[in-house]
Amino acid sequence: MEQQKRYGHFDDQHREYVITDPQTPWPWINYLGNEDFFSLISNTAGGYSFYKDAKFRRITRYRYNNVPMDNGGRYFYIKDGDTVWNPGWKPCKTPLDFYECRHGMSYTRITGKKNGIEASVLFFVPLKKWAEVQKLTLKNESSETKSLKLFSFEEWCLWNAATDMENFQRNFSTGEVEIEGSTIYHKTEYRERRNHYAFYHVNAEIEGFDTDRETFVGLYNEFADPQAVMEGKPRNSHAHGWSPIASHYIEVTLKPGESRDFVFLLGYIENEQEKKFSAPQVINKEKAHALIAELDTTEKVDKAFAELCEYWDALLNIYKVKTGNDKLDRMVNIWNQYQCMVTFNFSRSASFFESGVGRGMGFRDSNQDLVGFVHQIPPRARQRIIDIASTQFPDGGCYHQYQPLTKRGNNDIGGGFNDDPCWLIFGTVAYIKETGDFSILDEMVPFDNQPGSEVTLFEHLKISMNHVINNLGPNMLPLIGRADWNDCLNLNCFSWDPNESFQTTENVSEGTKAESLMIAGLFVVTGKDYVALCRKIGKDAEAERMQQAVDAMIEAVKKHGWDGEWYLRAYDFYGRKIGSNECEEAKIFIESQGWCTMAEIGAEDGLVAKSLDSCKKYLECEHGMVLNNPAFSKYIYEYGEISSYPEGYKENAGIFCHNNPWVIIGECIAGRGNDAWSHYAKILPSYVEEKYQTLHKVEPYVNCQMVAGKDAFKPGEGKNSWLTGTAAWMWYTVSEFILGIKPDYDGIRIDPCLPETAGDYTVNRKFREAEYEITIHPNGAQKGVKSITLDGQAIDGTVIPYSKGKHTVEVTM
Ligand code: BGC
Ligand code: NOJ
Repeated sequence: MEQQKRYGHFDDQHREYVITDPQTPWPWINYLGNEDFFSLISNTAGGYSFYKDAKFRRITRYRYNNVPMDNGGRYFYIKDGDTVWNPGWKPCKTPLDFYECRHGMSYTRITGKKNGIEASVLFFVPLKKWAEVQKLTLKNESSETKSLKLFSFEEWCLWNAATDMENFQRNFSTGEVEIEGSTIYHKTEYRERRNHYAFYHVNAEIEGFDTDRETFVGLYNEFADPQAVMEGKPRNSHAHGWSPIASHYIEVTLKPGESRDFVFLLGYIENEQEKKFSAPQVINKEKAHALIAELDTTEKVDKAFAELCEYWDALLNIYKVKTGNDKLDRMVNIWNQYQCMVTFNFSRSASFFESGVGRGMGFRDSNQDLVGFVHQIPPRARQRIIDIASTQFPDGGCYHQYQPLTKRGNNDIGGGFNDDPCWLIFGTVAYIKETGDFSILDEMVPFDNQPGSEVTLFEHLKISMNHVINNLGPNMLPLIGRADWNDCLNLNCFSWDPNESFQTTENVSEGTKAESLMIAGLFVVTGKDYVALCRKIGKDAEAERMQQAVDAMIEAVKKHGWDGEWYLRAYDFYGRKIGSNECEEAKIFIESQGWCTMAEIGAEDGLVAKSLDSCKKYLECEHGMVLNNPAFSKYIYEYGEISSYPEGYKENAGIFCHNNPWVIIGECIAGRGNDAWSHYAKILPSYVEEKYQTLHKVEPYVNCQMVAGKDAFKPGEGKNSWLTGTAAWMWYTVSEFILGIKPDYDGIRIDPCLPETAGDYTVNRKFREAEYEITIHPNGAQKGVKSITLDGQAIDGTVIPYSKGKHTVEVTM
């Protein structure tokens, strides 16, 4: 194996990933903010901020797909004599004497040293505040007095990130700012329909400023050598149109050993309509002053930071494992849970692979994200379920996406993805099992956000199930619609026009026969959940009705969905098999193996075991399981986007990490712990981190959506990090199926599935108003709980009955 360069390491004690070389193979980013105000920050301080919605309320500007890739951000320029440098190395790229970036739980600390000066910046968004704090500490470690010139830099985005990138004939004339003391206010469009503005403040006297980008940078210079900085002279420019920015200029003298803090604050404010102005065209700054006053000293900021750390302590104390395997423990206890919070917050909207412009909150995506998040902050999960269900239509169909700011369905993408409705059951059941809060089922929830259309959430679940039953094809399997979970298997889109989007083109839905085995499996799994829920709340007739539909689906799969060694993937528009040995390429697909094994369809006849074996034989490779095999080598008009990707990438035989856990859960349900573990470890970031930092390319502390598969040019190369359903699925897999701690309506079900080599381990689980310390003694077994004691008393079965307070549980396998 080629020796891979290392760019950083885990620091578990501080729950940080420590990057020691700024030239990572790709920007390695982190997320700041947990509610409302958010920022993305790279290891060189690149990135941007927004309020709630990365498209409609973008605060600072970012350029995608740039050269160099990560350009623009919050930059501090330090001019020390003739040397100009940045603590995060970029954009000047002046070689540093020391560099370190620590990405932690909702904060990032970047430290650079040059010529005896240490500059350390702590970036975070305080809880419940609409602001990003940047606490800069400058320290003179040399033996002489230093006189430094410090310039800050932020570039304003003109709010709507889409038009900001496009509509220059207007944008170049609308930009407006105000300057007041050490605060620069951005108020573009405030004169008309906007009630919000942003500001950039520092808690120190400034000796100058700039707010016009061209004046600060110079028309023929770049962020790497802004004219004002190079000459050590701010211009005190006042932006009128063009591109407004915010830059403070401060002169700092530091004696040997002396250090000084500066608190920079990037804030966002909304005013009431009647209180917009304090004088004609002058923004009312009362709320900004109040926000600044809350965060204008080192002490106040340190306190806010301590609160943020305590907040994460509490969140991560809900589920804690101790196995003695650091690589497992750090993912379970820290990074997997952290990534779940991030995906819950952003769905698939804003990352370094998602511009924040194209995609809002996904219906299926956000429901799946819930299973990774629901234990963290149940009330937020509850609200999310209501928001999602509110975008549903009366027939059970739904918008595929909605915008977080407005919570309205996003019509650009439309609907018709026939797996979508089932996910509402998946998310809701997870919520009730975690909380015991059945009252959510009685919430009145509208259709398409139309007031007056409200029915109960339970009714939404019912029509979700019905949507599948009402849309069956010739083999009594679910019609696929525009696509199922695999957005790229477009069986009703026949496109020869490169300007058509595969995602929105559906030109031949009349008379379609296209059916999905993935939805069939999903329907059985969620259908069983739905039946159990109905029984639980006394709706026996409804349970009975749905049990029959589930049984019928199982029969349909056995009859029309089995190919001999694995489950078929689908039937196409003409009723021909997809994912069959009869096919020329893509003979087997992972999604239907995952869902039909989770559903245990035909387990009694050995179908599950055969399917799982086929995954090992045909899909598995060094870096995980590919989506399909063999990859498509040419474009197939009847299949759509899936065959548009070169071999080994994305939905065409990439390792789509999201669906590996489906097979892993299938393995766990089948009791094959060795196989489950070996699949799991292949895509577990901490194992990849140890081996492949250069090849993997993207952040080694989180999962990415896709790793190039065995047919790709560079197998093992990762892409689309952070915002992926992989986070929630990895969490669900390890917490509930491998380690075996499953929330259930009446308590916690214990059902681990482990490799034979697993030793004893302990899980500390807070659950509703109880706290359990659960110790498992596997004794070399892969599956099967022999006995359980609760507070020293043997219990029957495998469910620890819920009761408040602290409990100790011993489990023997
Ligand atoms: C991608 C999918 C994605 C879809 C919708 C496709 O190009 O390959 O992964 O879900 O777009 O945005
Ligand atoms: C990414 C999308 O966000 C998700 O909804 C979809 O299921 C997968 N890609 C697979 O196509």
